[in-house]
Amino acid sequence: MGLGRKIIVVDDAAALAVAAADRVVARIDSNPGRIAICLTGGSSPKQLYDVLGKEPYRSQIPWDRVHWFIGDDRFVKTGDPLNNMSMARGIFLDRCAPAANIHPIPTEAHSPYEAARLYEEQLKSFYGANVLDPPQPLFDLVLLGVGPDGHIASLFPGYPAIEVTDEWVVGVSEAHVAPFVPRVSLTLPALGSCHEMLFELSGADKRAIMTRVLAGKDLPANRARSYEGETVWLCDRAALPENFRA
Ligand code: 6PG
Repeated sequence: MGLGRKIIVVDDAAALAVAAADRVVARIDSNPGRIAICLTGGSSPKQLYDVLGKEPYRSQIPWDRVHWFIGDDRFVKTGDPLNNMSMARGIFLDRCAPAANIHPIPTEAHSPYEAARLYEEQLKSFYGANVLDPPQPLFDLVLLGVGPDGHIASLFPGYPAIEVTDEWVVGVSEAHVAPFVPRVSLTLPALGSCHEMLFELSGADKRAIMTRVLAGKDLPANRARSYEGETVWLCDRAALPENFRA
């Protein structure tokens, strides 16, 4: 059973990106072997990606040993401005990481369901087994943001995908919030198979959902956690409800 959720509060978005980068590097340093990091989409991680691709962080990352996956993607072609992995590639991966270490969801597939099946195969082959073994997590680190409805990755509240436990990746035909394109998402058990799950929440726009999260509402964001490792919520002051800010 993983440790409980730890909330770390920082001043603002810039401090949040640096605190997240420090955690990414610390996590990498703790594993002398092959490292797997599961990135997230949306706008929350952009500053972190920018920081990781620049000094002093860039030279602290052993790029040959680090593999980059993505927790969900919009079912649009590579290079489309809505594509999450293309966003991460554009900000830092294409400049820093060997191409063979970048593992996008294959959104060129015929359907989100086919893309999900293909990505699940890739993950299983990388992991070296078809069943997740809790003491041997799939990922060193999983990054997540939280949507206004409490979704994480593309696991939306009340949708069947949030309940899936026998698949690692699922196709989601309709999104619950914009952009309204089909999605492909890792499931809770695949995301939870990590040494650390790191959420990033910044800005006053997150305050309403953060209030619901902290009130313990049944939301995907409250169900997502590292099964055997740490679950850390990095928040800036603006994202917190008033009574939590002090
Ligand atoms: C996506 C995501 C999604 C995102 C949250 C938060 O494809 O949209 O991966 O889960 O992380 O919606 O998005 P923001 O960071 O833009 O608020």
